[in-house]
Amino acid sequence: MPSLQIPSDIAALVDYEKYAKQHLSEQAWAYIYGGSADEITARQNEQVYGQIKILNRVLTDVSQGHTQTHLLGDTFAHPIILAPVAYQKLAHQDGEVASAMAAEAQGGAFVLSTLSSTSLETVAKSGAGKKWFQLYFQNKREHTLDLVRRAEEAGYRGLMITVDAPINGLRNREQRAGFTLPPGVRAENCIHYQDSQSVEKGASAVFQGLMTSAPTWDDIEWISGETTLPVIIKGIINPLDAREAMDRNVAGIVVSNHGGRTLDTLPSPIDVLPAIRQVVGPDFPLLIDSGIRRGTDIFKALALGANAVMIGRPIFYGLATAGALGVAHILRLLRDELELTMALCGCSELSAISSRHLWHK
Ligand SMILES: Cc1cc2nc3c(=O)[nH]c(=O)nc-3n(C[C@H](O)[C@H](O)[C@H](O)COP(=O)(O)O)c2cc1C
Repeated sequence: MPSLQIPSDIAALVDYEKYAKQHLSEQAWAYIYGGSADEITARQNEQVYGQIKILNRVLTDVSQGHTQTHLLGDTFAHPIILAPVAYQKLAHQDGEVASAMAAEAQGGAFVLSTLSSTSLETVAKSGAGKKWFQLYFQNKREHTLDLVRRAEEAGYRGLMITVDAPINGLRNREQRAGFTLPPGVRAENCIHYQDSQSVEKGASAVFQGLMTSAPTWDDIEWISGETTLPVIIKGIINPLDAREAMDRNVAGIVVSNHGGRTLDTLPSPIDVLPAIRQVVGPDFPLLIDSGIRRGTDIFKALALGANAVMIGRPIFYGLATAGALGVAHILRLLRDELELTMALCGCSELSAISSRHLWHK
């Protein structure tokens, strides 16, 4: 059982991993912690931040400092967003409701996955926080549209369309552990959308199977035309795709490799961020995720062109350790670390953070 208190020896996000591992089953841990194939990208996502060096500034007055930011027409106390992660009841019985409450308590944004283990309506009713809905295209357009209409009606303020996972990555760690969803945990939003696909004998289960209903840029145009919500595309790594997204007038992009869970050996988002910022210009909203574990990581991401960051796995670590309290504490830790980094670099607001605060050999 998760604790109702935060263990006293937790000082940083990394400390939550130890407790989460104790509270989760081996199978759930493999699903949550694992990456694709040999997990090269998943590992590198965290390590790469350590290779970027900060160039600090001294003797600057930051006594009016803050981390406030504006995104998609809303104001947030800090730029740390809870990423859409599926099946949060795997880690705690309160699942997505607990993490949405944590985001709200800390003045940040929350993104609900299509594959949430609590329905989007139930999460919406649980509090007044600013929530976005993450959309996975369904096999049938009518089902995709139904999800979007439900999210609009329930008061979600943005539509984050994930485009980098039309099929699951090679999850070898999960396969070895024999992970399946336990009883009581299922994709609550989609229970009425069951439609199976069949593949002719001899045909490819990938090309003629799963990928036949995978979305294309035409589908992005279609759904953007159907909704009044701002559309953010999640899962861009290639600057050419950033250009394609810009051409569709989307409201923002999440530079992401899905936490290293789709295609192994992709570069880390932070590596490609400067090139994507160059393509989209200075004012276009860019979010980044995959591997953010420290306030210094957030600072570096902002210095290289991001407007905000998202965290994925840490949500599960916080939930498994101490429920909503754990997730709220994770957000607070990251924000405190970001504030400390900003103060030691002479930045009193997020817009003051720039590549001049990074050391280039
Ligand atoms: C267990 C798990 C489930 C996830 N489920 C989804 C999902 O349903 N939709 C989605 O867009 N991304 C999903 N993601 C990816 C996250 O939104 C995010 O891109 C990634 O976790 C960021 O990397 P990080 O875990 O290193 O912070 C999932 C990630 C994990 C770890």
